[in-house]
Amino acid sequence: MAIEVFAPAKVNLCLHVTGQRDDGYHLLDSLVAFAPVGDSLKITDGKSLSLTVDGPEAAGVPVDESNLVMKAAALMGEGQGAAMTLTKNLPAASGIGGGSSDAAAALRGLLRHWDREDLADMPQSRFAEIADKALGLGADLPMCLMCRPARVRGIGERIDFTNLGPIPTVLVNPRIEVSTPKIFAALASRENAPLPDELPAFSDVNAFAEWLAQQRNDLQAPALKVEPAIGRVLDTFERADGCLLSRMSGSGATCFGVFPDEEAALAAEHHIRTAHPDWWVQAGSLGDQSERARPQVS
Ligand code: C5P
Repeated sequence: MAIEVFAPAKVNLCLHVTGQRDDGYHLLDSLVAFAPVGDSLKITDGKSLSLTVDGPEAAGVPVDESNLVMKAAALMGEGQGAAMTLTKNLPAASGIGGGSSDAAAALRGLLRHWDREDLADMPQSRFAEIADKALGLGADLPMCLMCRPARVRGIGERIDFTNLGPIPTVLVNPRIEVSTPKIFAALASRENAPLPDELPAFSDVNAFAEWLAQQRNDLQAPALKVEPAIGRVLDTFERADGCLLSRMSGSGATCFGVFPDEEAALAAEHHIRTAHPDWWVQAGSLGDQSERARPQVS
């Protein structure tokens, strides 16, 4: 039996830093959605746990216990075996949750493989138990378990699902790895206003982009200071035909541009790729990827 699990990119449409806990972790108020581009994890039987990494973004990705996929596997099945192959399409340390989404995919896939459980169908109490364990591996992990758009608060553990999308988007990474702790440390203020209490119901992308333009990513200013190349990506979106809004995701360096329709996003993707062949550029509509993220058994 083989199981294949899609691990979509996570995009922070806005990310407000609203405080800091005593242990140093920052309190956030963020709206996240998921992209149709992502990594893929294949799971087959194995006597012990093993991981192979391939794909266009595999270079430098560890295959030992330091990989979040291996940590997630060790967390779920003490002493159990599985042979895993991770195909990396998302650049590492890039603000779109690659490692977290891979680990969340490992949790979904191994729950299916070992326990015949489907995360998407389990009782809320069991889901909460798994999300709590996952939080120990990284603050971004719980939000990547379901791959549904959500408002995320706390350090990442308070998740309220919401209906968002499709949002025609282009993702651009200038091929720079960013250290998340370094960007948080460079914040000028840790006490910023949260998102409005009530989020607007998503109707069309133009109205949503107008609302989103009034929100922020508080990590963008410190990231621009640490990595000026991020500014070049945002300038490129500013000049792109039809771009309604551009912003950095997470702690960077990936930025997203929102477009009125898929055609405009594809045209911008082509234009930016041609002008910057060294950048990672992907068009796609952000929203709910929960159906595609279910483990596929063959
Ligand atoms: O938990 P995770 O591995 O995602 O976070 C990496 C680092 O980013 C943490 O060690 C911390 O320095 C910083 N971080 C933070 N507040 C968050 C998430 C991450 O300060 N909510």
